Amino acid sequence: MSASIPSCLFYLCGMKKLGEIRCISPSNIALVKYWGKHAVQLPANPSISFSLKNCVSETVVTLTETSNSEFIKKGNVDFDFKLDGKYKPEFEEKIHSFFKRVASFIPNTSKYKITIDSKNSFPHSSGIASSASAFSALSGCLIEWERTLIDGEKNEDYYRNLSQMARLGSGSAARSINGGFSLWGSYSQVKGSSDEYAISINEINPIFQDLQDTILLVDKGVKKVSSTIGHELMNNHPYAKQRFVQANANITTLLGILKNDSFKDFTHLVEEEALSLHAMMLTSNPSYILFRPNTIAIIEKVREFRDSENIPICFTLDAGANVHLIYPKAFINKTLEFIEKELVGFCENGAYICDEVGDGQKIITEIYA
Ligand code: PMV
Repeated sequence: MSASIPSCLFYLCGMKKLGEIRCISPSNIALVKYWGKHAVQLPANPSISFSLKNCVSETVVTLTETSNSEFIKKGNVDFDFKLDGKYKPEFEEKIHSFFKRVASFIPNTSKYKITIDSKNSFPHSSGIASSASAFSALSGCLIEWERTLIDGEKNEDYYRNLSQMARLGSGSAARSINGGFSLWGSYSQVKGSSDEYAISINEINPIFQDLQDTILLVDKGVKKVSSTIGHELMNNHPYAKQRFVQANANITTLLGILKNDSFKDFTHLVEEEALSLHAMMLTSNPSYILFRPNTIAIIEKVREFRDSENIPICFTLDAGANVHLIYPKAFINKTLEFIEKELVGFCENGAYICDEVGDGQKIITEIYA
């Protein structure tokens, strides 16, 4: 891999094709939830998540010299976007506003024609939020190309900028850069934490290092109320202030739990966070409900299973009806047996996805030289 601009260039339709960057980036699941924001994608409270291994977006960015220089001079970026090989004009506005927000991070890259080709490892419309993996993958490609152009280093600033850029696409994407556990949001007890970007949490007890996330797909449809609207409804929410106090307290508690080994406390906290997130939706104005009757049925079965089998398993929920089952790898066989016997009937077409803590983003750069 070269760090300088190639001397000899590949030609595509008469235009110089400079290179291609492929980034595979994970989705993540939050244990302490981010819900509510201000200014440009700054969180109302800190959050903690872990990156997933199997639910990833793979994005290929190709850079070509552009003939659209007048358009670019006006501060626009000349791009095409394809999802699963098909042009998707409905995503263009979101990507356009992302490019505007991240312009200062990629001053050189944005002078080229950018072709974005993205796909997800998880089934389309499976109800798994793909914006975290998609925006972190796109940011990975763009910032890596910028680094190549200026012959920059992959230092701490690089990773901070990368997380910051991803955040500007989708808040939770800030936590989809590194492997393992991440903290996003300024938190007085953790040096280096910031509202602008996520940082890794390194003090993790071995019992949490191989956590599984088995995602039960209760409803594969597009959710009725978007996260953008949900965050907005936290402004003037009657319980918002108390929710932010709770989330901050849960950060302190969770950091302690992750360092030590109390699965009982972990279970209590993770479930409280999931239910508090949905309680905010139930009590917002207007109120809305994203879980389904089958979500509740699963939650009750999981609690019974935990009590009767004494298995350290808990559930969490994202902004949707699907249930994430979180447990150590040592209990995978017993849990899958339980899912097959007791839970698949509550899933749409019996579908679920097996995932676990992952290693974070991977980037492959090819320069045509
Ligand atoms: O990243 P956004 O803006 O789509 O917000 C997602 C927030 C939750 O997924 C519900 C919680 C979280 O912290 O990931």
